[in-house]
Amino acid sequence: MIDKIKAHIADVENFQTDVAEEVEKFRIEYLGKKGILNAFFAEFKNVPNEQKKEFGQTINELKTAAQNKVEALKNALSDKQEEKGVYGDLSRPGEEINLGSRHPISMVKNQIIDIFSNIGFNVSEGPEIEDDWHNFTALNLPEYHPARDMQDTFFIQTNPEDILLRTHTSSVQVRYMEENKPPIRTISPGRVFRNEAISARSHCIFHQVEGLYIDKDVSFADLKQTLQYFTQQLFGKSKIRLRPSYFPFTEPSAEVDIYWGLKTETDYRITKGTGWLEIMGCGMVDPNVLKNCNINPEDYSGFAFGMGIERIAMLLYQISDIRMFYENDLRFLNQFKSVI
Ligand code: DAH
Repeated sequence: MIDKIKAHIADVENFQTDVAEEVEKFRIEYLGKKGILNAFFAEFKNVPNEQKKEFGQTINELKTAAQNKVEALKNALSDKQEEKGVYGDLSRPGEEINLGSRHPISMVKNQIIDIFSNIGFNVSEGPEIEDDWHNFTALNLPEYHPARDMQDTFFIQTNPEDILLRTHTSSVQVRYMEENKPPIRTISPGRVFRNEAISARSHCIFHQVEGLYIDKDVSFADLKQTLQYFTQQLFGKSKIRLRPSYFPFTEPSAEVDIYWGLKTETDYRITKGTGWLEIMGCGMVDPNVLKNCNINPEDYSGFAFGMGIERIAMLLYQISDIRMFYENDLRFLNQFKSVI
């Protein structure tokens, strides 16, 4: 009997396979309830006393050998599966995929684009690195014009010509008018740069949307109607006022306020108790600008407007610090889920 067990031990030690089913068959054959080991254990009581010790030791040897073999074969199999890229239990529930969300600046930009494209405006873009002509001179801001100080500029090169980071998206209107003849209806979203101290209310990099409409007989009333339509669509409010202002590229110029209301404490705070909020600048395109872009001001007139996207997004979502837009903090970004 002991020899039989020893023969099994040799068999077990020599056994080899790389098929999972074979390993399982082997395990059941030796270690299963009705397996070889249990059969030997059942024999134990019939073994003469003087052989019991050696018999017991030998079956234990067989048991350990069988267990070790099964373990080793299983390990070899799972290593092989990993090599093939097959991992563990395929019926396990999948891991949740974290979907990204649009940045609030993109969401507001897309909303503005949608609103204007419904009334026939297309989208145009220009370079962030600009020359003096497109950012200043063509917009009626010649060299040494004091209004250049309204926008602190990052210069990249100052000689022989000025190359700079654009301070506003108004530069795109110049490029668009140089390339296209009226009628023109275009909006130009983009990033702009100003050498300003970073604070809760201002940043040195931000986004603007510029609008331009040039055609025959465009009037200030057309401008006002367009802006009213826009504020109604975006904020659900169409009560606006146009406050006289100054921009070198428009004449007359105005700042646009919308009536925000005074219902809540926040309304009082953000409107400084007036109920009114400034949202953009606008005006009738200065004839000098049209001339600079080879459009005859005798034949055509038009309006332009420009607004900061951050400012609008801060109003829409009640965000109190502009720096939050650029910190990429997921706790902030995850609050904005949108498909547009
Ligand atoms: N470019 C101006 C700024 O950055 C905004 C602006 C005002 C644009 C009036 C316009 C406009 O087109 O007509 O502050």
